[in-house]
Amino acid sequence: MRLETARLVLRLLTPEDVDDLAAVLGDAETMRWYPAPYTREQVREGIERQMGSYPSGSGLLGMVEKQTGRLIGDCGVVWQDVEGRMEPEIGYHVHRGWWNRGLATEAARAAMDYAFGELGVDHVISMIRPENVPSRRVAEKNGLTMDRMVFWRDYDHCVYQRWKK
Ligand SMILES: CC(C)(COP(=O)(O)OP(=O)(O)OC[C@H]1O[C@@H](n2cnc3c(N)ncnc32)[C@H](O)[C@@H]1OP(=O)(O)O)[C@@H](O)C(=O)NCCC(=O)NCCS
Repeated sequence: MRLETARLVLRLLTPEDVDDLAAVLGDAETMRWYPAPYTREQVREGIERQMGSYPSGSGLLGMVEKQTGRLIGDCGVVWQDVEGRMEPEIGYHVHRGWWNRGLATEAARAAMDYAFGELGVDHVISMIRPENVPSRRVAEKNGLTMDRMVFWRDYDHCVYQRWKK
């Protein structure tokens, strides 16, 4: 699994990425729509979880800016249990210093194309807290539309969805 866009490479995460990823997922402002920022240990566990899912072709990938070679976030396809059904979710997190440059949209588009192509799914979703306007914009810019609201992991979430054409 290695995806490439104009400005990004999405590649497998490794344990060496823990510090760069902790700079993203450990930031309180970035994680304001999550129960809490991740500790370094949670980031380490998260990387191991993603590594465990790579053999099945899913998992969050490291988002590397081509220009600098720096890991600035993650993005990929993650299978999520939503009301008892396993759904292919496009997930993304970007370092605060790189927001609003279209990078999440660019990465999510590549992950969606991969899901429809290599993974062979007929739809993708993104689970987004209603207040998370930037994430809703990313979904909308990639042609996902709000399908329904569900109570998921202790909070209301919009289920954004797009079917394969
Ligand atoms: C959501 C997130 C990944 C977006 O990353 P990004 O690279 O900045 O996204 P993009 O630049 O591709 O698009 C962001 C869009 O939100 C818009 N936006 C940002 N802040 C906004 C605000 N306060 N109000 C309205 N729109 C806003 C931007 O203008 C842009 O839309 P536009 O292109 O129509 O102008 C980033 O904000 C993030 O990492 N958030 C924390 C983690 C997170 O919530 N992940 C998603 C979980 S569902």
